[in-house]
Amino acid sequence: MEGGSALPVATFPEPALARPASMTARLCTAAAFGALLAVGFALWGGASTVESWQRAARYTARFSFLLFLPVFAARSWNALSPSTLSRALLRQRRSLGLAFATAHTVHLAGLATFFAVKGTRPDPVTLVVGGGAYLTLYAMAATSTDAAVRRLGRNWRRLHTFGVYYLWFVFAFTYGTRTLERGLGYAPFLAAAIAALGLRLVSRRLRQPRAAAAR
Ligand code: HEM
Repeated sequence: MEGGSALPVATFPEPALARPASMTARLCTAAAFGALLAVGFALWGGASTVESWQRAARYTARFSFLLFLPVFAARSWNALSPSTLSRALLRQRRSLGLAFATAHTVHLAGLATFFAVKGTRPDPVTLVVGGGAYLTLYAMAATSTDAAVRRLGRNWRRLHTFGVYYLWFVFAFTYGTRTLERGLGYAPFLAAAIAALGLRLVSRRLRQPRAAAAR
């Protein structure tokens, strides 16, 4: 060592670079934040506690519907008209699905609070159909891993195909009845649900000859 002292040079360990939060973590955090913002907005404008929480149940479902649409339609959209956006949505479909589950959990908290402050219970049909949809949603979230895909095999595809259509049905049915009962303000939501289903059916129809030829 030239002209230098013989003291050993202290080497500090490289700072552990914080691994970037996974896309799933980022999307779930953003979804939770967005859903809580919807609750805040609902509570801010409500005329009474009951009405505020009813709005919170509505706005959180609306927000999670906007996350559900790309989960439901990404593959078909990409098959029919591939673009940078459709490819990105398809690549992040699992993270988007978990973000949807996060946002819809805020809907669950919002509706439970609504019924609690109102001092009533959901009607039995909503409880069975809506409750069944939540159980299915959490089964899909719990199996959104590569290990579960490998372990469950065909049952994984059966669960996730059944689940995504079951959730679609609850959204479409809710917006269909609201459009009939409460007016055209709900029609854009119903139209979006029908358009997303249309994308899936058309892309499946176009895939069939190719699948048959491959057999
Ligand atoms: C036990 C299960 C559930 C209960 C008790 C429940 C209850 C509620 C309540 C109280 C509202 C507000 C009602 C109002 O406007 O007066 C609401 C709105 C809504 N819920 Fe749920 N819900 C459940 C599950 C679900 C599920 C699983 C979905 C979708 C997959 C869903 C989608 C919606 C939609 C789309 C709205 C209307 C939002 C809007 O006004 O734009 N709900 N729900």
